[in-house]
Amino acid sequence: MNLTDRVVVVTGGAGGIGSALARRFAAEGAAAVVVADLDGDAARAVAGTVGPVAHPVRVDVTDEEQVSALVADTERRYGRIDLFCANAGVATGGGVDAPDTDWDRAWRVNVLSHVYTARAVLPAMLARGGGHLLMTCSAAGVLTAVGDAPYTATKHAAVGFAEWLAITYRDRGIRVSALCPQGVDTAMLSEGLTAGHLGAKVIAASGAVLTPDQVADSVVAGLVEERFLILPHPEVAAYALRRAEDPDGWQAGLRKLVRRLTA
Ligand SMILES: NC(=O)c1ccc[n+]([C@@H]2O[C@H](COP(=O)([O-])OP(=O)(O)OC[C@H]3O[C@@H](n4cnc5c(N)ncnc54)[C@H](O)[C@@H]3O)[C@@H](O)[C@H]2O)c1
Repeated sequence: MNLTDRVVVVTGGAGGIGSALARRFAAEGAAAVVVADLDGDAARAVAGTVGPVAHPVRVDVTDEEQVSALVADTERRYGRIDLFCANAGVATGGGVDAPDTDWDRAWRVNVLSHVYTARAVLPAMLARGGGHLLMTCSAAGVLTAVGDAPYTATKHAAVGFAEWLAITYRDRGIRVSALCPQGVDTAMLSEGLTAGHLGAKVIAASGAVLTPDQVADSVVAGLVEERFLILPHPEVAAYALRRAEDPDGWQAGLRKLVRRLTA
């Protein structure tokens, strides 16, 4: 997919990665970029920086009615959705003792919202015989977010769901991509570091922390190549291979890193 004249929706569009995607899609010539976020004021502010093709919408992606309305309103306004980026996500910094409210929020934002998205966008995309879904998952979905159990479990589920969609719908014209970055310099990471969360410390110690614009570069390249797995940190593929070949060795390496960071 190239972005020229495309109608795009980005959830979590007011955040670090989402706003970079929105700006980049507009720069690539998108016809419309819907900047959708729980924080309506921030979505409006980001839309202002994206330019005249941007349209801000306040949406809670954990509410199926709101996701359906976002899709229906966009289709009514612009005639179609070519690319839907389910990018909103939350970290918790918690372990097994994280309260059920944190587990529930992670499940609803990181996974169930992707199901609501697929239900809402697929009918029109299938009728037109084309469309692209980009799910922002995480390297935590193919590896592990040490220090954040709800994030790890739900991001694994998000990758699994994206792969299921890709296999099920590819032959009917639907493309699916799973975006799996490691560390990215956004509020999610900086707030985790400020709060002293182990997960954020591990990310910061595990390799390059990319800018959201660098992630947007990888996304545009991945969309053009219609790749399923988009890895802004290419080393994640090697880590995933190592983890699959030698899970015990992989875990021992991470335990060593945790011991070093918590000594
Ligand atoms: N920052 C990283 O290191 C990193 C690494 C891998 C993956 N990710 C993923 O990238 C995505 C974007 O995160 P980010 O780093 O830009 O963080 P961010 O906190 O800057 O942005 C997240 C955005 O999602 C919005 N949001 C949260 N709950 C929502 C809801 N219920 N409905 C609608 N919007 C909601 C927030 O208001 C915020 O604007 C997330 O899915 C995150 O898990 C981030």
